[in-house]
Amino acid sequence: MRLILVGPPGAGKGTQAVFLAAHFAIPHISTGDIFRLNIKGETDLGKLAKSYMDAGNLVPDSVTNAMLEDRLTHTDAENGFLLDGYPRNVGQAEFLADVLVKKSIALDAVLELSIPHEEIIKRLSGRRTCRNCGASSHVIFDKPNVEGVCDNCGGELYQREDDKEEVVANRLNVYTEQTEPIIAFYRNLGLLKVINAVGDVSEISTHAIAALK
Ligand code: AP5
Repeated sequence: MRLILVGPPGAGKGTQAVFLAAHFAIPHISTGDIFRLNIKGETDLGKLAKSYMDAGNLVPDSVTNAMLEDRLTHTDAENGFLLDGYPRNVGQAEFLADVLVKKSIALDAVLELSIPHEEIIKRLSGRRTCRNCGASSHVIFDKPNVEGVCDNCGGELYQREDDKEEVVANRLNVYTEQTEPIIAFYRNLGLLKVINAVGDVSEISTHAIAALK
């Protein structure tokens, strides 16, 4: 399976990616997670990405495309992958198409998580992210067993800088202006599947798997 998950910030891409990657036994490749790991490690890439991410803007394509192309050379991605947060504009979608042609492989599907903006605000304002492993939880919808502590690894939970209200508004604009056009791009290629991303997490996973089968 070679899949792309697309949807606005807070649609639940990261949450669903965990289930889909396990179900199809493919690696979950999130460009946002790779950037956050680099920020944590204080690498040059992390230092460059941080200012764009904190403002809710896209990291330049030249940087993101090179990083993604390199990630696809790892052996775990040889037989499939689930991309989360990439591509983010038509330029990246065209770049990915060229990379896949060079590798003589093709995408199987692009799954869009459809969700109204009011729901996104509720999800992002309550999201907490683990500083250690990057797992997401939510102060209302997915409460950790101990407040402020990650269920997954015991790490400290924090609010992402880009989950603050003023930045979320910009992320939604960036999504509408730059990312939404890739939906038509993949619809025209006959690859697009759309599911409703509102409801219970496990119900949405079931719909996602059914749509992909
Ligand atoms: P990235 O990390 O990709 O963020 P995003 O796309 O904005 O997506 P999110 O992680 O915010 O949301 P999600 O859809 O994964 O939702 P989640 O499952 O966590 O990118 C961050 C930044 O990195 C970008 O702004 C950009 O600067 C840069 N970047 C990344 N990729 C790039 C690229 N390709 N090009 C250029 N720049 C790039 O869920 C959200 C919350 O809701 C959680 O708290 C969760 O617990 C809760 N939740 C999930 N599902 C449900 C449900 N069904 N019901 C109730 N609550 C739910």
